[in-house]
Amino acid sequence: MKKIAVFTSGGDAPGMNACIRSVVRSAIYHGIEVYGARYGYNGLIEGDIFKLKSYSVSNILQRGGTILKSARSKEFFTKEGRAKAYKQIQAKGIEGIVAIGGDGTFTGANLFNEEYGVPIIGAPGTIDNDLYGSDSTIGFDTAVNTALEAIDKIRDTANSHDRVFFVEVMGKHSGYIGIQTGIGGGAELVMVPELSTTIDDVLNTLKQGRDRDKTSSIIIVSEGDEQGNAIEIAAKVAKQLPDLDIRVSTLGHIQRGGAPTAFDRILASRLGIAAVEGLLNGQKNCMVGIVNNEMKYTNFKLAISKSKPLNPELLKLVEILSI
Ligand code: F6P
Repeated sequence: MKKIAVFTSGGDAPGMNACIRSVVRSAIYHGIEVYGARYGYNGLIEGDIFKLKSYSVSNILQRGGTILKSARSKEFFTKEGRAKAYKQIQAKGIEGIVAIGGDGTFTGANLFNEEYGVPIIGAPGTIDNDLYGSDSTIGFDTAVNTALEAIDKIRDTANSHDRVFFVEVMGKHSGYIGIQTGIGGGAELVMVPELSTTIDDVLNTLKQGRDRDKTSSIIIVSEGDEQGNAIEIAAKVAKQLPDLDIRVSTLGHIQRGGAPTAFDRILASRLGIAAVEGLLNGQKNCMVGIVNNEMKYTNFKLAISKSKPLNPELLKLVEILSI
């Protein structure tokens, strides 16, 4: 293999730049030419593919976002789109691809490999941490730390005014950010999409807190919770407990930005190198992940179809620690 391409796709995540840097430098280290495609699969389709040198990735290790830009390509999910992408990479002589992204990215990669046999290795880049085959994903740790910083600040004001705050964190189908910030931020309750929490559960938690003379509470709501978003849940609770002073804070996309933590920089660097080495060693159609602190390759199909269940003991921990 003499030429490979790298791109970032799906929702961006802090540490993607560190991974791009690692792919580029390890490829060059192994004597391979490396190209970047802009805007994920759209770059492959449009032929927006350019050569990367070692200095192209200088000074990006510590930066959030992605220098290659990102997109969720609709065209790549059509046969015509993938045919165009194949034509472009053939024209450039690209023999292997590193795709940095989440489940949507790997679903596309799997299709592309099945149709055209191009070796692709995925590096898990998503703040949601929802990929089977990796204990953590690039950006998750940073997102949790960003959310925690915000929750600490919210707690200050919640405490001063004796208020209940519903704080919404990201994770449309995944409660990983919710559970980590719930434990790290000392929340009274965490509502995640994977496990059912009723409005009565919320009311009981708040009533019990009041009985124990708690003056303020924080409830974390993962954005995909079945009871609705934080504003909707807060409204339902306010109806039942009108004497409570309730506020809502939706943290939103601040969780996707900012400098990656040390953990994410190191994880991204390790995954980038393992992705390139995987391609060189004949791996294809798989995601490289970290499992028990080791680099492991998991077939795309498994990585996207198998769920990585939340540990319910962690939710119990929130209950015990908020007593
Ligand atoms: O997949 C990462 C993620 O941040 C989810 O947690 C969230 O639901 C979604 O992306 C938001 O996507 P967008 O940036 O398109 O609003």
